[in-house]
Amino acid sequence: MSQCRVCHSEYKPFINFGPQPIANGFIPEDKIGDEYFFEMQVGHCENCHMVQLIDQPSREQMFHGEYPFFSSLSKHMQIHFKEFAETIERRFLNHNPNPFVVEIGCNDGILLKNFAEKNIKHLGIEPSENVAKVAEEKGIRVTTRFFDYELADETRDKFGPADAILSANVICHIPYIESIFSGVEKLLAEKGVFAYEDPYLGDIIEKTSYDQIYDEHVFFFSALSVSYLANKFNLELIDVEPQATHGGSMRYYIARKGAYSPAQHVEQLIEKEKEMGLNKAETYLQFKKNVEKSKQDLVSLLEKIKKEGKRVVGYGATSKSTTVLNYCGIDRNLIEFISDTTPLKQGKLSPGKHIPIRSYDEFKENYPDYALLFAWNHRKEIMEKEEEFSKSYKWITYVPEVQIF
Ligand code: SAH
Ligand code: TMP
Ligand code: ZN
Repeated sequence: MSQCRVCHSEYKPFINFGPQPIANGFIPEDKIGDEYFFEMQVGHCENCHMVQLIDQPSREQMFHGEYPFFSSLSKHMQIHFKEFAETIERRFLNHNPNPFVVEIGCNDGILLKNFAEKNIKHLGIEPSENVAKVAEEKGIRVTTRFFDYELADETRDKFGPADAILSANVICHIPYIESIFSGVEKLLAEKGVFAYEDPYLGDIIEKTSYDQIYDEHVFFFSALSVSYLANKFNLELIDVEPQATHGGSMRYYIARKGAYSPAQHVEQLIEKEKEMGLNKAETYLQFKKNVEKSKQDLVSLLEKIKKEGKRVVGYGATSKSTTVLNYCGIDRNLIEFISDTTPLKQGKLSPGKHIPIRSYDEFKENYPDYALLFAWNHRKEIMEKEEEFSKSYKWITYVPEVQIF
């Protein structure tokens, strides 16, 4: 039994993915042998309905000066974050002539750039020095530290209360969630908003997108669990907005209790989640069965293709792919290499299964028979870019089910 990080009730795992490496731990050839593995299991707390990893590696093992994920590499994400900034400005900053915006985990500045360009007072909090440096080069003010209660307190003393605290694909990474929420409560202005988005549990269950489960993602949020969490810190979930990013995300708007009246969407989403069974143990047992089927289907397809003597290359060395490769036991035998546009990943090996990561040029110059779409969350952007490949060759996806297209 483990203790829920939110409500401290006891809970048990419903699925075990076996030993998993650091999902973004791309390694050079000469470091094989020194890799860290942890037992990756997920559980559902029957009291507050938070779905969470049982164990997680330490934050310093995941976020450091060589963090290989740069948000701005995707053009669609740049547009998405510009719209996020505009929405916040329109809905929450108008009442203050000199508003202050804080972002938790600003990475290379993809979101804050939109505020910095308008000379809006801002602060990015980003512990991974290499990506933080890229943000600073864009004229963004960054503190290279981990956000927590202590930093929130210092930030309020130094800069004043925040009208908006924003975050994307970060809060679900942080196990010390009580320190985050009490920090937000400390830093937030009276009418301030805490708006954050993360991959949505409802989509993961619906699409069997188990690859969203990896070391960095300790929480899989829903309106059910987030409303419980907010309430515990004298905050309130005032609105929710589904997002198409990362294969299905949800944006949660949280404010001080009573500062705004909650939109009807919140209650509606909670009702829908209950209808989907996100509050029931059976739902998670069914998910486990779906995951096992997905594994069998993918492995048999790749083995069949190999027997036919055809080539398969992975497209996008995503952090998500680490779970798929290690859980399904897929290595170089079945996938020749993975093509990725991130220079820091190229020339290295995939975590755990050691498939070589090569540049995009190597894909373009010698098309394989099949491309296994690990970056399925960027499908639209990639299909636009790869019309030529798609004319003569095939794609493989595993979300929502294993399929050739
Ligand atoms: N917001 C960006 C980046 C997401 S990647 C986007 O959506 O594309 C997750 C980021 O969170 C990493 O850059 C990591 O360094 C940062 N991070 C992890 N723990 C953090 C913490 N406690 N406080 C602030 N940032 C954190
Ligand atoms: P993400 O799923 O975490 O956003 O990571 C996407 C990864 O896929 C990242 O390493 C960059 C890579 N990628 C490509 O190689 N080609 C592309 O066209 C896109 C959109 C991403
Ligand atoms: Zn709980």
